[in-house]
Amino acid sequence: IHYMRGFFMRSLMISGHRRLRGMINVQGSKNSVLPVMAAALLTEDKVIIENCPAITDVYHMQKVMQAAGAECDIENDIVTVRSGMLKSAPDEEYCARFRASSLFMGVFLAVCGSFVMPYPGGCNIGSRPLNYHIDGLRSLGAVVEEAGGYIIGYCRKLKGGSYEFPYPSVGALENIILAAVRAEGKTCLTNCAKEPEIVDLCDCLKMMGADIDGAGTGTIIINGKATLHGCRYRVPGDRIAAGTYMAGCAIAGGNICLRGIEPERLTAVSDILQKMGCHLFTDKKSNEIIVMADGRRRAVTSVVTGPYPEFPTDMQAQIMSVLAYSGGCCDIYDNVFENRYNAAGELVRMGAVISVSGGHARVCGRPALKGARVCATDLRCGAALVIAALGADCTIVDGCSYICRGYEDIQRDLEQLGADIKWIPGEELTEDLELQS
Ligand code: UD1
Repeated sequence: IHYMRGFFMRSLMISGHRRLRGMINVQGSKNSVLPVMAAALLTEDKVIIENCPAITDVYHMQKVMQAAGAECDIENDIVTVRSGMLKSAPDEEYCARFRASSLFMGVFLAVCGSFVMPYPGGCNIGSRPLNYHIDGLRSLGAVVEEAGGYIIGYCRKLKGGSYEFPYPSVGALENIILAAVRAEGKTCLTNCAKEPEIVDLCDCLKMMGADIDGAGTGTIIINGKATLHGCRYRVPGDRIAAGTYMAGCAIAGGNICLRGIEPERLTAVSDILQKMGCHLFTDKKSNEIIVMADGRRRAVTSVVTGPYPEFPTDMQAQIMSVLAYSGGCCDIYDNVFENRYNAAGELVRMGAVISVSGGHARVCGRPALKGARVCATDLRCGAALVIAALGADCTIVDGCSYICRGYEDIQRDLEQLGADIKWIPGEELTEDLELQS
């Protein structure tokens, strides 16, 4: 990891109009590995996490864990955690850099009985309140207060309780599960998020000895345990990284095979791409998805995001790029993050016809977009711009530090699939930024 200022951040230069072909292994899931790393702090035994993606958010997580007194080593794609005596204050600077740091609230309550932390950072995709996290932790007997930009929590002993989520929040459910598995007694959670990443976290916790029933359904019952033990857990493939490359193939045309991804995690995305004219072949046994696209895309009338199994908000920007090349008009409604349309303005610079108003975006497809210099302003916006460039002349995407938060190496993956894409020196850094070496 280097800390850089006054250096040039890398940008991506893409020359489109090349069909994709070939096969890649899909990286481990970002949104699964982060809560699993937090879970590893719930035992003093060794937890080994395999297939860990090399992304900035994982390194931030590692820094917070190390600053809190845990051993956390990363070698290739294996993270080894041995939690010692945790201090009760997660590192402020690192917590402020990524959203998943909110998960330390539940963990520190369970292990230390208290926490003080700043509001978590993360992508700029609209307001991301923590009220469900806080109310849920209160239902387990914790006192949680917000003061002066900090969240402070404490409890003598966490006790099982019940909480009905007003909305099936992924992060809030993970937080409360992390606390409840070590609380005294039974916890009943209703209107729970059903995302595959919840199932992954619970699978890992069950391997650590936790008693959890109903993960992946709307009701989860947990019987708390005084201690948990170590385990070896393998992180499944990243459904959003896979979906991004599927969408890229829809734009460029071609024939690609994605390995190491459970096809049923992508049903909503696959349905839309098939309606737009892609041919998909999936193999559940070998966890493969094959995409065949002829470079022509039919329009769909609407794309509406929602909690799993509905269309994921994390694929909304990338599908907007595909729609920008379709043969008609489509309305996008992001019902999860209502203002998550950062990609629209940059796609318009490439000649796309997109208007954003009243919390929805209308995209009218064109046969071609033109190359331009565009800038990523959040993780998925960056991914959307890169795949949009696969159908255009030479395009430069700045702001690629955002992309490194969730994609191990989008250049490596797309080049392996036959794209003409290179890292180049990009914009100058005017503030300290941590870069993966
Ligand atoms: C997680 C994912 C993110 C994904 C999102 C929705 C991680 C690290 N991030 O984010 O990639 O886009 O799920 O699938 O896993 N809300 C509240 N109060 C709360 C919590 C949430 O109002 O206390 C609202 C949010 O503002 C948002 C909605 O609930 O409108 C969903 O948010 P949530 O599911 O919590 O997303 P994250 O866990 O932050």
